[in-house]
Amino acid sequence: MKDKPAARTPPAETGFSSPPCYAAEFPGHFGEAGDVPDAAAELTARLNALLEAERAGARVLAVLRDSLDSRSPVRGLLDQVQRDEGANAVVLYKTIRRLGGEASHETGAFFQKTLAIDGLTERLRFVNKGQAWVVRKIDEVLPLVDDDAARAVLENMRRSHLDNIATCDALLAEEG
Ligand SMILES: [Fe+2]
Repeated sequence: MKDKPAARTPPAETGFSSPPCYAAEFPGHFGEAGDVPDAAAELTARLNALLEAERAGARVLAVLRDSLDSRSPVRGLLDQVQRDEGANAVVLYKTIRRLGGEASHETGAFFQKTLAIDGLTERLRFVNKGQAWVVRKIDEVLPLVDDDAARAVLENMRRSHLDNIATCDALLAEEG
């Protein structure tokens, strides 16, 4: 008969003597912990994309504004849009850092792309496409933002972009 030895093997000899692995009892715990940095990293990346775009916009608009005669009314309009873009870059930089992210120091490729285009009218058309892109990116990131102050920053930025798009559209309509 073989039944006696095998059936009576004490638990201590079947692998349970090593310290238990508690991680196995909380399969969700480590996964959730991993999701938090991913979400934070995604938010930082999206806000940095906006920061780089606004920095590029501020630089482009400074070039376009400075190409105009100081008496040109268009210069005043572009100056206002340029100031908005610069202010957005500053507030985005501060927001990213306040939320614990690493803020980018890069300028978006939009700067070079715009200046590669000939003519103020065509450049302004391209600027407006860029501004509409920013509005879409703000719409995408807003559902990911819990922080009230950060939401207010983005919502304000969205409004000023829509206003500035309308201003530039009106200007372009006058140009024909
Ligand atoms: Fe912008």
